[in-house]
Amino acid sequence: MTSVTRDVFGKLPDGRTVEKFLLESNFVKVQIISFGCIITCLEAKDRHGNFTDIVLGFDNLEGYLNKHPYFGAVIGRVANRIANGKFSIDGQDYQLPINNGPNSIHGGLKGFDKVLWKPMEIENGVQFSYMSADGEEGYPGELEVWVTYTLVGSELTINYKARTSKTTPINLTNHSYFNLAGQGSENIYDHEISIDAEHYLPIEDTMIPTGEVLPVQGTCFDLRKPVDLGSQIAKVKGNGFDHNFCLNITDKQHSCAKVYHQPSGRVLTVRTTQPGVQFYTANFLDGSLKGKGGAVYPKHSAFCLESQAWPDAVNKPQFPTSFLYPGDDYDQTTWFNFSVQ
Ligand code: BGC
Repeated sequence: MTSVTRDVFGKLPDGRTVEKFLLESNFVKVQIISFGCIITCLEAKDRHGNFTDIVLGFDNLEGYLNKHPYFGAVIGRVANRIANGKFSIDGQDYQLPINNGPNSIHGGLKGFDKVLWKPMEIENGVQFSYMSADGEEGYPGELEVWVTYTLVGSELTINYKARTSKTTPINLTNHSYFNLAGQGSENIYDHEISIDAEHYLPIEDTMIPTGEVLPVQGTCFDLRKPVDLGSQIAKVKGNGFDHNFCLNITDKQHSCAKVYHQPSGRVLTVRTTQPGVQFYTANFLDGSLKGKGGAVYPKHSAFCLESQAWPDAVNKPQFPTSFLYPGDDYDQTTWFNFSVQ
């Protein structure tokens, strides 16, 4: 049985209350807040049964209201980059706010990570809903969105649903930063990872995919068999991994990635219905943020596995579509399983 407890987390500058929900099973304790649907804390057991918080974040709401790199948040309306913030639908051009070099990233200036969601307690979890107005952050159509977190045993499930009044791009994900040694640990070099992808998307210098879909075979992106992150990151040109892997779609629900931390025994296994995953090794963290319990977060002190549509799909007809049409349901799920080995 999962227990769900509800409490106040803080107050927004405009006086609205941000609530927190603690979901507890025998294996995992996870806290999620109604601002940004942010996972603020996730405790998982090591091989001796000791709980440790394995996600980066802040002790209080203020940290999440200040500028930060999307710790634990739900990202939308469109996660990842859109080239020059431009796209067109049925001959109509749209221009989004530019907030990442020449591109638009993670839903714009005030994405779904920075809005207050309406929570509802459900069995084993919590469901958040949000109505995104027609034209919000430049996106067409009124979009109704539901994000549902449920915890059963050792598995946290995140389901994303949406409906729109006009055709719109959509790409929802969760941007948790994990360190299986415990949040605040210096790096993730002693983690081992595998990703179930035969292909990846090469990127140009502003990090937009070139449009090619290349085999991982013979490259540093071949993570089909487990590799040590420390030595593998060193093989990547640039700062580390920040790339979309094209998942092997065997079924609606397919395997995505597995991460093993030998010293603690913790294992994170991810499955999803999404066609891709952005594997990001926290290359832009620089130790300047004050995290939970006074922790500092240097470069490579966490990893993100953001299951999602392929970046810039809206401008790349050869990629799986990221458009949602009126009358259709957007329905995607990702499963995070925490075990020991
Ligand atoms: C992107 C990174 C970015 C990070 C925080 C990730 O999804 O791929 O490039 O730095 O989000 O914005």
